[in-house]
Order: sequence, then C-alpha cells, then structure tokens
Amino acid sequence: MNAKTHSLDPLIASATEAYHHAYAPYSRFLVGAAVLDEHGVIHSGCNVENAAYPSGSCAEEQAIGSMVAQGGRRICEIVIVGRSEAPVTPCGACRQRIREFGDAQTQIHVVDLDRGLQRSYTIEELLPEAFGPENF
Ligand code: THU
Repeated sequence: MNAKTHSLDPLIASATEAYHHAYAPYSRFLVGAAVLDEHGVIHSGCNVENAAYPSGSCAEEQAIGSMVAQGGRRICEIVIVGRSEAPVTPCGACRQRIREFGDAQTQIHVVDLDRGLQRSYTIEELLPEAFGPENF
C-alpha cells in the first residue's frame, strides 16, 4: 500500500479509539497507536500500565504485537495519538520496534487529540544509524 495515496483518517480514527481505551491510571498519560500493514489492515493498541511500573507497555508495542499476531510483517505507516503540546514521539524501545518492521518509506505520524496531525517523521529521522534486521 502506497502511504502517500490515501487518507490518514482511518488510522487516526483507529488510534483515537484505542487512546480512549488506554489503561494509564499511574501516569494518567493516555496514548493510542494504529499501524497500517502491507495487507492494508489496521492494527491498534494503547498503553497498558501496571502497578508494577516496569511491566507496563506502550501503545506502539501493543499495536505492533497485534499486527504480527495477525500475520502482518511490514509497517507502512503508524499513527500515534496523545494529548500534549510537544509531539508524543515513540520512546527509544518503540523506535527500535518500528525499525524492525519498517523501511525507509515508513511514516510515523504524531497526532494530538485536540489539535490533529502535529508532525510526520521517518524512522531514519527518529533512529539514525540503527541496528536492524539487515545487520544480521
Ligand atoms: N507511552 C506510550 O504508550 N507511547 C509513547 O510514544 C510515549 C509514552 C506511554 C508509556 C506510559 O504508559 C505513559 O505513556 C507515560 O510515559
């Protein structure tokens, strides 16, 4: 699927729905994510925190896990929805997770719940000189 030829609206809608389901009673910082795979299927996720803090997981992690479990292997695009003036860019570990299933064309779109699309990035911008599957 060519990321440039279609609307982001379905991905934003899916990530926004996941945002509203986020389980974040500790940070109170809700995040939703939605991934478009190579089959044109959208997979969503939200952050799921835990009383044992390090056991919590990120929205991107959940969305990518769902994609893999349903047979997707490429991230064509990913949308992350948060509520913050500063774009909610993926954490370091999630950048590496996106790198695993992304390529030079993969766009990472950061959306604010109230303001809409804030910025789009490539994984090369967020994780330059990365170690990835090609290094094996
Ligand atoms: N979080 C995400 O789910 N994705 C991001 O891109 C940034 C941070 C979550 C982790 C934690 O549950 C909360 O936001 C605060 O860091």
